[in-house]
Amino acid sequence: MEVRVFKNAGEIGAAAGKIICDFVNSKPDCVLGFATGASPVPTYDYMINQFNEGKVSFKDVTTFNLDEYCGLPADHKNSYFTFMKENLFSKVDIQSKNINFLDGNADEEQESKRYAEAIKAKGGIDIQILGIGRNGHIAFNEPSDEFTDEAWKVTLSQSTIDANSIYFDDTEMPRSAMTMGIGSIMRSKKIILIATGNSKAQAVKDMIKGPVTPHCPASILQQHNDTVILLDEAAASLL
Ligand code: PGA
Repeated sequence: MEVRVFKNAGEIGAAAGKIICDFVNSKPDCVLGFATGASPVPTYDYMINQFNEGKVSFKDVTTFNLDEYCGLPADHKNSYFTFMKENLFSKVDIQSKNINFLDGNADEEQESKRYAEAIKAKGGIDIQILGIGRNGHIAFNEPSDEFTDEAWKVTLSQSTIDANSIYFDDTEMPRSAMTMGIGSIMRSKKIILIATGNSKAQAVKDMIKGPVTPHCPASILQQHNDTVILLDEAAASLL
């Protein structure tokens, strides 16, 4: 894995956004994997600015998102679909027919199969954006005794509930989600993981310097052959 340290989240967003926009310009019908949460927002802002300046178009891009809560309708204000709509989809020319999302309310097994087949039919994910949880999770793959493969339904850990419940003001935060599995993430051709702030420093250290173990799911990225880790100084402080 390649590790790059930046001064702030804005610089990281520009670096990640440039990798993505350059790639889209070289392969306009590429497949991008998107993440929700605070970490990728500056990247999406960069992509929106490049689009507004006429420097990139996403009209032929296909997208797959990492995860979605169970128990919320897709158009709920706290769903990850709504998050993506507000932070990216409604602001660029991605076509809705090319947007793929896990359905947190579908049958787990059928949904997992459907998503795996949809990714395969598109030739796999070219670039997958990731954040990392304070507990080392990627997507919603929480620390556990084994690495998962395809999409599955996860019971969220207390650490994730604590971190994400700030977004739920008048709705109770769901306790489960459908998430792409570790195997699906690892099959992405390129991975860009973004982490900022002190609260991520230990997870970042475990991911990069620790053993490869499902107790820190992100540590599996040590075995991926094209992963770039973009950090601010606080997230890199324990390296
Ligand atoms: P964050 O979440 O980007 O909001 O910090 C990342 C994650 O939990 O994977």
